[in-house]
Amino acid sequence: MKNIIPHPHKITKKDREKIKKGQKGCVLWFTGLSGCGKSTIANEVEYILNQKGFHTYLLDGDNIREGINKDLNFSKEDRKENIRRISEIAKLFTDAGIITITAFISPFTEDRKSAKSIIGEENFIEIFIDTPIEICIKRDPKGLYKKALDGEIKDFTGIDSPYEAPTNPDIHIKTDKESPKESAYKIVSYLNEKGFIDVK
Ligand code: ADX
Repeated sequence: MKNIIPHPHKITKKDREKIKKGQKGCVLWFTGLSGCGKSTIANEVEYILNQKGFHTYLLDGDNIREGINKDLNFSKEDRKENIRRISEIAKLFTDAGIITITAFISPFTEDRKSAKSIIGEENFIEIFIDTPIEICIKRDPKGLYKKALDGEIKDFTGIDSPYEAPTNPDIHIKTDKESPKESAYKIVSYLNEKGFIDVK
């Protein structure tokens, strides 16, 4: 941008991570349909990590769509901007050395790809919460599928707006095969295996 000259930072992500945290900043990027279990599993993951003394932060609809992104709706353009802002925020948290968890539908491959490139692929872990739409419709925890099927909500993901499932996620969770706790432990093990945390 014109006349904006970045000032090199003396303290880097690596320096921040060294301070007694014993963890690497990264983003656990959850993606999946509304009602698929993203928030439930994300909360379990955060709980386990917190209990083990790791520093986490969860970005979700409650603190993003009701805050910085409250001007955005569910058109393709607005979803793109939603994901772009979340990616930039997650990047800052990651740089601060925090294990950042994001729980958004993020239905478009292209938007997830740009999230990965904003955040940096070495810090980005894509987690597909795979729940068949029939189950999401049956669960309908917020009553929104009913409204969408009755035509009261337009552009609802999975009904009249597409969900492009990841083809090669880092972690693939099939919620009809395991409990949220089992899924959460799987994700924490992945972090351990890849060296983001060190749990014996
Ligand atoms: S995203 O597509 O832009 O990533 P996001 O995760 O922020 O979506 O918000 C999805 C949540 O908003 C859903 O779980 C649901 O509660 C609510 N919602 C309201 N309208 C819609 C819609 N048209 N499509 C999907 N979700 C909607």
